[in-house]
Amino acid sequence: MDGPTATLRRTSLERRDLRPDDLAIQIDYCGVCHTDLHALGHHDGGAGHPLVPGHEFTGVVTETGPEVTRFSVGDHVAVGNIVDSCGECAMCRAGQENFCHTFPTLTYGGTDRQDGSTTLGGYSREYVVRDRFAYPLPSGLDPAAAAPLLCAGITVWEPLHALGVGPGSRVGVAGLGGLGHLAVKMAVALGAMTSVISRSPDKADDAHRLGAHELIVSTEPEQMARARDRFDVVIDTISAPHDLGPYLRLVAMDGTLSHLGHLGPVTVETMDLLVGRKKLSSAGSGGRPATAAMLDFCADQGITAEIELLPSARVNEALARLRRNDVHYRFVLDMSDLG
Ligand SMILES: NC(=O)c1ccc[n+]([C@@H]2O[C@H](COP(=O)([O-])OP(=O)(O)OC[C@H]3O[C@@H](n4cnc5c(N)ncnc54)[C@H](OP(=O)(O)O)[C@@H]3O)[C@@H](O)[C@H]2O)c1
Ligand SMILES: [Zn+2]
Ligand SMILES: [Zn+2]
Repeated sequence: MDGPTATLRRTSLERRDLRPDDLAIQIDYCGVCHTDLHALGHHDGGAGHPLVPGHEFTGVVTETGPEVTRFSVGDHVAVGNIVDSCGECAMCRAGQENFCHTFPTLTYGGTDRQDGSTTLGGYSREYVVRDRFAYPLPSGLDPAAAAPLLCAGITVWEPLHALGVGPGSRVGVAGLGGLGHLAVKMAVALGAMTSVISRSPDKADDAHRLGAHELIVSTEPEQMARARDRFDVVIDTISAPHDLGPYLRLVAMDGTLSHLGHLGPVTVETMDLLVGRKKLSSAGSGGRPATAAMLDFCADQGITAEIELLPSARVNEALARLRRNDVHYRFVLDMSDLG
């Protein structure tokens, strides 16, 4: 990251020497998540720590520490946005490392639990990770198109699963981007009647192709009114701050709005919850068991992201296009140009 223009430049960095339970991974593909843009926007330009984004990647194991038993050199693996947790709190014991009471160590911009260094992410040719936070990549999944499953995919999978989405559920997905398009594919594969709620009517054909049965244009009040109280679950992946009222009004009685996209304070009109006993929830990333289950489900169902693959040297172009919503539906960087 180079200055306030939030462009990235190539540099070299050292990964730590392997600890007994570490893997070294050659990164082949890394997805570009909207969170990377948020992080670049908030970064101080390198005065404190350098910022290396990237938290959904796939690659090949190149070395293993002496205590590693689950992986061998040559294995195809995937890593998401969490690389460590305390392992002892109630959340970790329940397999919800993403909610660790000491906050999970993030793949970039986190603080390593042993040496206190700042973690540097997957826009890179190599990563060193504790073996518990690497996942075998199922052989049926294309490693480039599977990379986004590790952040975008798991982030929408956990709430779909936790909220009991299955055959007969009615699901609305707000925002058809990286998270949104995977939410549609997964909800459809789970058997739900799935709708997209988007401000972009030109995405209607894509929505249908992904398996949704309709696209509701969020800027058309009559369309929104017609969909009132329709969905058991609305997965809100919108990346900008927005009024939750119009989306809560789409939720059916006792249903849930899962607000995953723009994290931060929100204002809620209580009447939007009261009328219909609606629930407002959120989620982020996933625990180890859910991440493994999500990968199995995707392998079974043939679900991967719709990607545009670019050489990593074109990362700034990917970020600029993501910023202006010109992406169908995830950029993935090919790291092989990093040597
Ligand atoms: N909870 C978590 O752990 C977690 C994990 C990953 C990402 N995130 C966050 O989730 C959000 C989505 O990430 P992403 O990678 O899917 O982003 P993305 O690919 O850019 O998709 C975001 C979508 O939101 C809609 N949108 C954007 N700006 C909008 C606006 N001003 N008003 C209304 N709709 C707007 C657009 O959909 P339409 O054109 O269809 O309207 C866009 O495609 C980001 O804020 C990201 O930081 C959260
Ligand atoms: Zn992400
Ligand atoms: Zn913990």
